[in-house]
Amino acid sequence: MAVRNFRWILREVAFVAVLLHLSQYTVNSVQASVIKTPQEYYRKNTAYSGTQEQSQSVPFNKLHLQADIRQTLDQCSGRNRFDCYPEKTNPPVQDCKARGCCLTRIHGDKGTQSCHYPLDYDGYRVVSLSPLKQVNATVGWNVTMTRTSSSPYPKDIKTLQLLVLYETTYRLRFKIFDPAVQRYEVPVDLHDQDSPTPEELTDFHVIFEKDPFSISIVRKSDAQPLFDSKGMAPLIFADQYIQIGSRLASPLLYGLGEHRSRLALDVKGRQKLVFWNRDQPPEENLNLYGTHPFYLNLEADNRTAHGVFLLNSNAMQVELQPLNNQGPETGSITYRVLGGILDFFVFSGPSSEDVVRQYVSLIGQSFMPPFWSLGFHLCKHGYGNSSEFWKVIQRNREAKMPYDVQWNDLDYSAGNKIWTWDNETYRGLPEIIKDLHDHGQHNVIIVDPGISSSQPKGTYPPFDEGLELGLFVKDASGKPFIGKVWPGDTAFVDFFHHKTFDYWLKFIGLFHGVLPFDGLWIDMNEPSNFINGSVNGCTNSSLDHPPFVPPGIDGGTMYSRTVCPSAQHQQSSHYNLHNLYGWSETIITSQILRVLSRKRPFVLTRSTAFGSGTYAAHWTGDNLSSFPDLAFSISSILNSNIFGMSMVGADICGFRGNAKRELCIRWMQLGAFYPFMRNHAEGYSAPQDPGWFDSEAQDIMRAALHTRYSLLPYIYTRYYISHTTASPAIRPLFFDFPGTELIDAQFLWGSELLVSPVVQEGARTVKAYIPKGACFFDLDTLTLLGVPGGDWYTLDAPLEKINVHVKGGSILPMLPPAVTTTLARQGKMELLVAPDLISMPVTASGQLFWDDGESIDTVRQMQFTLINFTLNETTLTSDVQAKSYSPVTLGKVTVMAVESAPPKVMLNGQKVNFTYDTKSRVLMVSELTWNLLVPFELTW
Ligand SMILES: *[C@@H]1O[C@H](CO)[C@@H](O)[C@H](O)[C@H]1NC(C)=O
Ligand SMILES: *[C@@H]1O[C@H](CO)[C@@H](O)[C@H](O)[C@H]1NC(C)=O
Ligand SMILES: *[C@@H]1O[C@H](CO)[C@@H](O)[C@H](O)[C@H]1NC(C)=O
Ligand SMILES: *[C@@H]1O[C@H](CO)[C@@H](O)[C@H](O)[C@H]1NC(C)=O
Ligand SMILES: *[C@@H]1O[C@H](CO)[C@@H](O)[C@H](O)[C@H]1NC(C)=O
Ligand SMILES: *[C@@H]1O[C@H](CO)[C@@H](O)[C@H](O)[C@H]1NC(C)=O
Repeated sequence: MAVRNFRWILREVAFVAVLLHLSQYTVNSVQASVIKTPQEYYRKNTAYSGTQEQSQSVPFNKLHLQADIRQTLDQCSGRNRFDCYPEKTNPPVQDCKARGCCLTRIHGDKGTQSCHYPLDYDGYRVVSLSPLKQVNATVGWNVTMTRTSSSPYPKDIKTLQLLVLYETTYRLRFKIFDPAVQRYEVPVDLHDQDSPTPEELTDFHVIFEKDPFSISIVRKSDAQPLFDSKGMAPLIFADQYIQIGSRLASPLLYGLGEHRSRLALDVKGRQKLVFWNRDQPPEENLNLYGTHPFYLNLEADNRTAHGVFLLNSNAMQVELQPLNNQGPETGSITYRVLGGILDFFVFSGPSSEDVVRQYVSLIGQSFMPPFWSLGFHLCKHGYGNSSEFWKVIQRNREAKMPYDVQWNDLDYSAGNKIWTWDNETYRGLPEIIKDLHDHGQHNVIIVDPGISSSQPKGTYPPFDEGLELGLFVKDASGKPFIGKVWPGDTAFVDFFHHKTFDYWLKFIGLFHGVLPFDGLWIDMNEPSNFINGSVNGCTNSSLDHPPFVPPGIDGGTMYSRTVCPSAQHQQSSHYNLHNLYGWSETIITSQILRVLSRKRPFVLTRSTAFGSGTYAAHWTGDNLSSFPDLAFSISSILNSNIFGMSMVGADICGFRGNAKRELCIRWMQLGAFYPFMRNHAEGYSAPQDPGWFDSEAQDIMRAALHTRYSLLPYIYTRYYISHTTASPAIRPLFFDFPGTELIDAQFLWGSELLVSPVVQEGARTVKAYIPKGACFFDLDTLTLLGVPGGDWYTLDAPLEKINVHVKGGSILPMLPPAVTTTLARQGKMELLVAPDLISMPVTASGQLFWDDGESIDTVRQMQFTLINFTLNETTLTSDVQAKSYSPVTLGKVTVMAVESAPPKVMLNGQKVNFTYDTKSRVLMVSELTWNLLVPFELTW
């Protein structure tokens, strides 16, 4: 986009809703406190000054005494112990007792003591409860509660209000907040906010307990509790420590990301998860790049499920633990939140897919990606210079690899400064990008939110202008906050500032005039910082040193390798907005690309929060070239899909370390089935692009790429379904098949494809679970997998093979593979029909969504073609639902498991040529040129 077009762009941008949206944020209410050390605040907490409310409080000494009495009264003997000292294990006896808690030696664990809440821990009591009415229907509840005693944390909010709202038949919201002072609330624009629904029309029933307060939300139809705080960790609502617990319906719990973990979370192992976005090579039990406080919980039968979402962007810790009850195994979840309010959404399911759709339709459905972005992406830091860069492009083209997008990591820039280009080292880069375009390929470049602050005045406009506009994040004293990132000292763009949209637009636009990139990759946006806090450190305030710092925060402080929480954005403190930093950059960047290119934007972001999937793709960060990392990538991409981020992938062949040949082959095979397929390595790693390997390795990688490219219409249709129905693009097996709750080395594309990759070095077979109640066909051989299912099977997996099976009952739209998606689109459509041999009559169905692949809003504007395909016995028919995009030509139909050679095949009454393979039982009708906008009937 040339600079002279800028004026009209700015005018158009003025109408972009995001500006309005971003300017209406509520301002922070977490007050800075002068308290410095834990000792100090404990003392302060127990020294009452005798205001009206506090005069009723239990004095410190009495609490202390009560703790001892409780021991004898058996108030400490509860089987379920909720941690009263989450700051550390083995707290000093007096510290535990000062909190009015019980200290119990953990049986069999020498020297470990548990500091836990007694059964009668004093908390909030309900003082008023009234229904919320609309006309004469109850649409919610209004509850006021108070506490008189003090919690272990400073600044208890002694009077709380709870509003329960029946939002839809399947969604209930409840908010607990301070009715006297407006606290920070998450500035997310929630979708699907209908007017409330009368209680009688919903699936929810709410039960309150008065003293101590508890709330139980029950699914009416089967009396299943969905959220139940009764008897769990006590409710605490202090300024910087908010705690609530809920009983889980079963130990099978999923979500709560972004974390590196097995797919099924470890309730028995007391897994603790921290949410405080961080640039961190994925490691278990540490905070990672994104914040998604949403979980999906299976119920006792493993078939029904519900979900819970806490809309809160503050730092938090979640602790899972088993409950020692008689009866079915359960567990509990305890939230420990450092600010904001409690704003919960409960989704009644009852299927796992329903739960995800209910959640995602609230936070926003996945964006519709440009078609080219479904192709293969290639990237490496430190190609060295433009001739080395050009060699990589050439060798992958010469190797005839399907290959759509060549990326540039930060080494393209001058001194790592964004919006600059190193025209010495990368001489000719604009021409190379033009060459990519001439070959139907695309280019994506990286940008970071840190702006170099140490350039001579007048030489680096991104800093000079940002400074003048006052849109950098500020330190507690109001000066630009300076940290250190790739270019050295950097200021951080405040994407919550009302002037940032125009500023960011200007530099994206100007730079696009220099390097004609097609998408932006926004990295380091946790935000990452190479020092702890600013060049001057952080403050002593309670924002930088809150009373509770979740122990799982890597580095041990809130400002470890990031911006100080006391730093200020225009809308609120970094303390409140930290977890939304990447999210705010994502929205603005995506909106700007949309305006500038007038095409569907493509943005890849590392840091995410609830709703990021509406704007951008995500990758799982700085993984390692290792088989365990390959295996973990499956849980990560499945989780992202549960969080509404359909377009996700892990760095294929691994980012850090050298990828050995076998690993890279296996990873290219698996990566061909990632929603987002990018091979990416850091500067220190050996090359790992397909064209670099020997010809045998290349053949295998090319075959994997051919499989992906042949499935492009199917993959694209899945994205359409995800975009329009909030259903995930890929899903865990247990969504469709009970008995597979713990499986996370296999996954499903929609309900149609079962992917069973090799995740171990040296393996030439794969142990795969094959579900029962369905039949499966090998995608390579097109033959039926002759096993009864419902068990584990050893499948051959020589190096050249990844096991992918098509579920009987599916019809997949496909294309002949080509070296780019641009060329592939020019081929004729094909259908692969996998009959469901278990149903009577034999049936299958499928769908094709097709449009130009790049225009904005084709779905909303109905600028697409949508066709349903149905097989009934030996008749395949099409049903054209929409036909606003053409041409779409059918070239070939392949039908599996056809009993015997048919005497003839007829297309709308006309005989057509076909072949039949008696060994594989595959019927193939090629040489077609049928305009798919016209319905057809194919019989044999
Ligand atoms: C309100 O009450 C009237 C009269 O009892 C009844 O006809 C009407 O259906 C009620 N409306 C709702 C929303 O329940
Ligand atoms: C809830 O109750 C409180 C206290 O009675 C009242 O001040 C408040 O207006 C009520 N809120 C709503 C939404 O009805
Ligand atoms: C639920 O799934 C888990 C894990 O697969 C299994 O151990 C348990 O027996 C299942 N429960 C039921 C009722 O099927
Ligand atoms: C490279 O960039 C520098 C700094 O912007 C500029 O002065 C110089 O003319 C450029 N060189 C070329 C060959 O474009
Ligand atoms: C078309 O197919 C989709 C997906 O299989 C299905 O959900 C939808 O109901 C079908 N529409 C019609 C009219 O058959
Ligand atoms: C499928 O075909 C059978 C006959 O083979 C017929 O009885 C049945 O009605 C058909 N079903 C549909 C949905 O068309």
